[in-house]
Amino acid sequence: MKAVQPFLFVTDLDHTFVGNDAALVQLTQILETHRQEYGTRIVYATGRSPVLYQELKEEKNLLHPDGLVLSVGTEIYLDGNATPDPTWSEILSVGWDREIVLSITQKFAELTPQPDSEQRPFKLSFFLKQESAVDVLPQLESELEKYELNVKLIYSSGIDLDIVPRSSDKGQAMQFLRQKWKFAAERTVVCGDSGNDIALFAVGNERGIIVGNARPELLAWHSEYPADHRYLAQDFCAGGIIEGLKHFGFLE
Ligand code: GLC
Ligand code: MG
Repeated sequence: MKAVQPFLFVTDLDHTFVGNDAALVQLTQILETHRQEYGTRIVYATGRSPVLYQELKEEKNLLHPDGLVLSVGTEIYLDGNATPDPTWSEILSVGWDREIVLSITQKFAELTPQPDSEQRPFKLSFFLKQESAVDVLPQLESELEKYELNVKLIYSSGIDLDIVPRSSDKGQAMQFLRQKWKFAAERTVVCGDSGNDIALFAVGNERGIIVGNARPELLAWHSEYPADHRYLAQDFCAGGIIEGLKHFGFLE
């Protein structure tokens, strides 16, 4: 019989890990057992800031993760530390100028700042309506390009716009942890539902689970770049994750 191997489990929270309470209970049990018996590691990769993450963790009684990727990949927390990993912050700080980015965004009336808790050292976040996004995103991009800034735009769920350093997103943060902990891409699985998760799926050959309730922007990307190492589940949220873990044979 083949020995059961540990794997690296990386998941988005809202509408991916969280959103299907019955399946979440089941998935939590599967993961907790796998972690205890085989050394599987659990990472949450979310757009939420530390404040909003804590709220959700308490509300849903989430399993304590081995690593935390917050603020769309711009902050990595290890071993329950309260301060972000300094090596990662240093990588992001090269060429990053938050003040200039902020001043450029102020020229766009369509950008409504998100709450203060979501404005982070390496992340500026706005609400931008889908109707306006078609025009505003390219304009904002070309405005930022003029200054040759180290930035990129991430648009999710037809409303959330994040501006972060180019070297940062959920995918690059996930790989930072994967390499640190020495998991092969084949033993790593990433799960998501929306635009800011595309980076998790696009960065390399990690196994990908797209939950059945995924947003149109992720589905459109997936149909443009289909791959055998990516699975589109039928079931929603944690139910889709369990389905995908079985599909890839992680639970054998
Ligand atoms: C979370 C964050 C928000 C971000 C969004 C998409 O909702 O709180 O700031 O814009 O994720 O990444
Ligand atoms: Mg999500």
